[in-house]
Amino acid sequence: MYVKILVTGGAGFIGSNFAHLVLAERPDAHITVVDKLTYAGNLASLEGLEATGRYSFVRGDITDAALMDSLVAESDAVVHFAAESHNDNSIADPAPFISTNLVGTFTLLEAVRRHGKRFHHISTDEVYGDLELDDPAKFTLNTPYNPSSPYSSSKAGSDHLVRAWVRTYGINATISNCSNNYGPRQHIEKFIPRQITNILDGRRPKLYGAGANVRDWIHVDDHNHAVLAILERGTAGRTYLIGADGELDNKHVVEAILVAMGQPADAYDHVNDRPGHDMRYAIDASLLRDELGWRPLYSDFAAGLEATIAWYRDNESWWRPLKEATEAKYAASGQ
Ligand code: NAD
Ligand code: TYD
Repeated sequence: MYVKILVTGGAGFIGSNFAHLVLAERPDAHITVVDKLTYAGNLASLEGLEATGRYSFVRGDITDAALMDSLVAESDAVVHFAAESHNDNSIADPAPFISTNLVGTFTLLEAVRRHGKRFHHISTDEVYGDLELDDPAKFTLNTPYNPSSPYSSSKAGSDHLVRAWVRTYGINATISNCSNNYGPRQHIEKFIPRQITNILDGRRPKLYGAGANVRDWIHVDDHNHAVLAILERGTAGRTYLIGADGELDNKHVVEAILVAMGQPADAYDHVNDRPGHDMRYAIDASLLRDELGWRPLYSDFAAGLEATIAWYRDNESWWRPLKEATEAKYAASGQ
């Protein structure tokens, strides 16, 4: 469909998995990754792609208007993953979240407007705030935006920019808001890989507060198949919610990781809770299912978790250089 695809933030977790998936499943596609290589970007996540002859990498910042203009001009479509993505970091220092998530998205939108290119914006369900534990409701397209953290508010602002550019300038854009992803190549600051690598490293998993908070887990490949379906067959201007009915509380997840790794289920520590910690996220993905026929392939969380644990076990050289600094940062905030 689209031959030359510009993937922003493609050295990060979801973007690198997207590049692997598209090059494997779309034989005509050529991917250009543009990535600043912040602490979260890792060129090792893109290993193997050069051999396809259909991949190139540019180190650059999405707030660089001249660079974005030339990269967008050379592309048929832009899939925009680049972001500062971690809530805890946004609480410690919100500034880069404003620059990358807001100014960076604005910069790309202006290039897309000038060159008339297809744009897909990757966002999060956290723009909706949170739900009560006992609320039968899930997030829908009618849920009002009510973000809690500097991270989620910057993503909410970026969604509003995209919608305004669609309405005012008529750009050909879509948005997707997805729930929490898990899978290979996720930075070890995030919940699931932090606990897996803690256990591999002889440390105990760390649970914020009582661990009653619920996240709606989806495998990264299911997210990316949905993104590809929206990019190729989605309706211009529309927003799609992506989720796989994977609600689990954090205590359950940490216990499942411990058991899967042969440890006692209670061998974890309770640590300081996150300020403003969202209680529950849950996605109603019926538009995606009904309009585009998308279905998750990883419906068994335990099996997806086993495969993810195996990936971190087999790829210690990928995460080992990140571990000390990541844990030092958490230790400073009692987490
Ligand atoms: P990540 O932190 O793993 O990767 C982000 C990538 O963006 C990194 O490679 C980083 O170097 C790059 N980057 C950061 N600032 C940049 C800049 N100014 N210019 C160019 N590159 C820059 O994030 P992720 O988990 O892969 O998330 C990707 C996207 O998906 C984000 O937009 C995030 O909001 C969204 N999202 C994530 C989840 C999740 O569970 N991880 C869920 C829903 C939506
Ligand atoms: P995280 O992976 O940071 O994703 P998000 O903030 O986008 O949901 O955290 C997922 C959940 O796990 C969240 O409720 C916070 C919690 N958490 C822990 O209990 N311990 C940890 O070490 C981390 C990093 C997160």
